[in-house]
Amino acid sequence: MRKIVVTSGKGGVGKTTVTASLGRCLADMGYAVVMVDADVGLNNLDVVTGVDSRVVYDIGDVLSGKCHVFQALVRDSESSARILPSAGGGGEMSAQAFRGVIDSVTDCDFLLIDCPAGIENGFHRAVSAATEAIVVTTPSASAIRDADKVITLLSAYRLEDVSLAVNRLRPDMAARGEMMDAEDIARLLHTPAIGVIPEDDCITIYQQLGRVPSFALSEKAFLLFADNVANRTKKCAELRMTGRRRRRRWL
Ligand SMILES: Nc1ncnc2c1ncn2[C@@H]1O[C@H](COP(=O)(O)OP(=O)(O)OP(=O)(O)O)[C@@H](O)[C@H]1O
Ligand SMILES: [Mg+2]
Repeated sequence: MRKIVVTSGKGGVGKTTVTASLGRCLADMGYAVVMVDADVGLNNLDVVTGVDSRVVYDIGDVLSGKCHVFQALVRDSESSARILPSAGGGGEMSAQAFRGVIDSVTDCDFLLIDCPAGIENGFHRAVSAATEAIVVTTPSASAIRDADKVITLLSAYRLEDVSLAVNRLRPDMAARGEMMDAEDIARLLHTPAIGVIPEDDCITIYQQLGRVPSFALSEKAFLLFADNVANRTKKCAELRMTGRRRRRRWL
């Protein structure tokens, strides 16, 4: 089983979005996926995946012995993935206890851990339970600088792999030199960008309604991203713009 923590330096860069969309793409590819909300207290993976109204038990209940981990897993309505929610319980959970809960999930191929923002206790707890990390950043200078700090911190953990997801990229701006592109960011951070997700209004619109549809650019980008994750490839998964200016197409 691969246990991948989705983390970042700066908050609000898209960790929960990446966890949900990547998890669903991997589930569509036929893998058994569990997504864990490690953002205890400020949980929102349940809201983003739309399962919040069906949550009965959370990770805190598993920890206190109120239920078995399999009773707390909620089936995603948009894919075969399952979600281990955090409804605010278990805030004082130690890294060891969290890891115990994670290790009790045995029947999946991919376990994606949605890490809280910042580098405090919650970060340590989430990263300690993982075997790989994906660091999410946007192309903004402050997010890249904070990603750099987190990548340095991650070197203290025994992780098999650390990769990058560049979110909210504007390829048109990158092409004009107004924004760094994914390859530049990967080079700067000495970390491969295996996921490159464009800024996409569909994410804002459809996140509240259910799943981002497959025609959305971001969903195409997530498919390339999931392919890289599943096959452990390090291709820079950037969508390329082709065609004449007035009839642009994305490949
Ligand atoms: N590629 C994108 N295009 C447009 N909007 C996006 C994109 N990615 C994320 N967003 C939006 O950005 C906001 C923050 O995303 P998200 O909650 O996933 O970030 P986060 O890193 O999990 O935040 P936090 O640090 O608070 O946990 C959300 O409203 C989401 O819809
Ligand atoms: Mg989040």
